[in-house]
Amino acid sequence: MRGGERLQSGSAWEGGSRPDGGISKIGDACRSCLEQAIRKFETNHGRILTACEELEGLADGLPALPTNGSHLRLARRMGALLRDVHAEEEREILPVFASALGEEAVRDSVATLTEEHRTDEAFADEVCEVLMEWIAGERHHDAATLGYMLRGLFDNLRRHTARERDQLIGPACRRLASG
Ligand SMILES: [Fe+2]
Repeated sequence: MRGGERLQSGSAWEGGSRPDGGISKIGDACRSCLEQAIRKFETNHGRILTACEELEGLADGLPALPTNGSHLRLARRMGALLRDVHAEEEREILPVFASALGEEAVRDSVATLTEEHRTDEAFADEVCEVLMEWIAGERHHDAATLGYMLRGLFDNLRRHTARERDQLIGPACRRLASG
């Protein structure tokens, strides 16, 4: 079930905050929906963190580049990977967390995380453009600058996934455990 549909269905969500501030019991359908959203989130984090390891390996090896072409594939797919993951988060995952944890409670977190998606996508495009220039031999930047940019990108992405774990996945797991 898609998060947007869940939100539009209103009373279909049996869990979350009650008007009196208490937490109502989570329903089986909502539990399953939240568990599925957590799994999707973790799968997406795995994809991003794997890419971060590749970016870090590339930064560590500069000014040399891998001989197997992995850097070229990474530079070509990084922007699409982030857009794909972020689109799924915003369309299907974050709305489920908002329903489960309370719209008010997570509003600021969701707004900040969504803003970071756009910033990270734009930065990834910039870094990959510089990297592609490097690969093509058009070195308008030195290795230290390219390394600095690569580290900035994977540091941002790791911090972002850690924030999503702390602010959304952790509370959602506690919500499920509390019944
Ligand atoms: Fe995210």
